[in-house]
Amino acid sequence: MKIVASYNVKGGVGKTTAAVNLAYLSARQGSRTLLWDLDPQGAATFLFRIKPRVKGGSGKLVRGERPIDAALKGTDFTGLDLLPADFTYRNMDLDLARAHPKAKKAARALSRLLDDLAHDYDVVFLDTPPSLSLVSENVLHAADVVLVPIIPTVLALRTYDQLAEFVAGFDRDRPALHAFFSMADRRKALHREILATLPRERDGISPTAIPALSVIEQMAVHRAPLPVYAPRSPATRAYQSLWTELVGLLGVEQAGATPQR
Ligand SMILES: Nc1ncnc2c1ncn2[C@@H]1O[C@H](COP(=O)(O)OP(=O)(O)OP(=O)(O)O)[C@@H](O)[C@H]1O
Ligand SMILES: [Mg+2]
Repeated sequence: MKIVASYNVKGGVGKTTAAVNLAYLSARQGSRTLLWDLDPQGAATFLFRIKPRVKGGSGKLVRGERPIDAALKGTDFTGLDLLPADFTYRNMDLDLARAHPKAKKAARALSRLLDDLAHDYDVVFLDTPPSLSLVSENVLHAADVVLVPIIPTVLALRTYDQLAEFVAGFDRDRPALHAFFSMADRRKALHREILATLPRERDGISPTAIPALSVIEQMAVHRAPLPVYAPRSPATRAYQSLWTELVGLLGVEQAGATPQR
């Protein structure tokens, strides 16, 4: 089982959009896939038309009083399940710290919960809230690959460098970072310049940029992944290339893969 997190300390940069579309593509290409919505806003839960309700809340889950598989929900799509978030997830930091007084254990608690699902899924996506918290630290330790959507600006790149530095300091359970440009607007000179130079100059930055397009915003209206309602959009093609890159990074097999355009 491989774990991919969609993470950035910044909000509103395309984390949930990436997690939802990539999880869908992963399932469609034959991997048994789970998306764990870790954000109390529950945006991924909403997009998959699932009720934001976790029996016993984040507390019972984190304390191991309710098994993680009891919280799993099926989606409308074959091979794709969801672990929904509800508003109790706003307390997850506190719940983790209370359940595990030792800091090292607290930072790896979600990883241990996911161990129970190791035989059930090939790929797990973690959609994270915008913060640098105990939950984020858990996510960074649990993930094999952390996808980092960044808007092509200088300050956003600086935030990415801070994340890279933070992760480099881990003594173990260090994920690979894979940044990609999100909401790229080629009408803007700065965006064009950053898109043209950065992926060549630096490691860990994807050559695939997700364009800023209103068809992506419409996901919340359709409440469906982009490839379902806009299969021929350049945005869908961009997420498909990102998924192909991820397959390479994760080394997942694509059983039953259907040929892509
Ligand atoms: N490439 C894009 N082009 C246009 N709109 C986009 C794009 N990517 C995301 N959006 C829109 O921007 C908003 C924020 O996206 P999203 O929810 O994926 O970000 P997020 O990083 O998960 O936010 P949060 O930090 O609140 O969890 C949403 O309305 C989404 O539809
Ligand atoms: Mg989000």
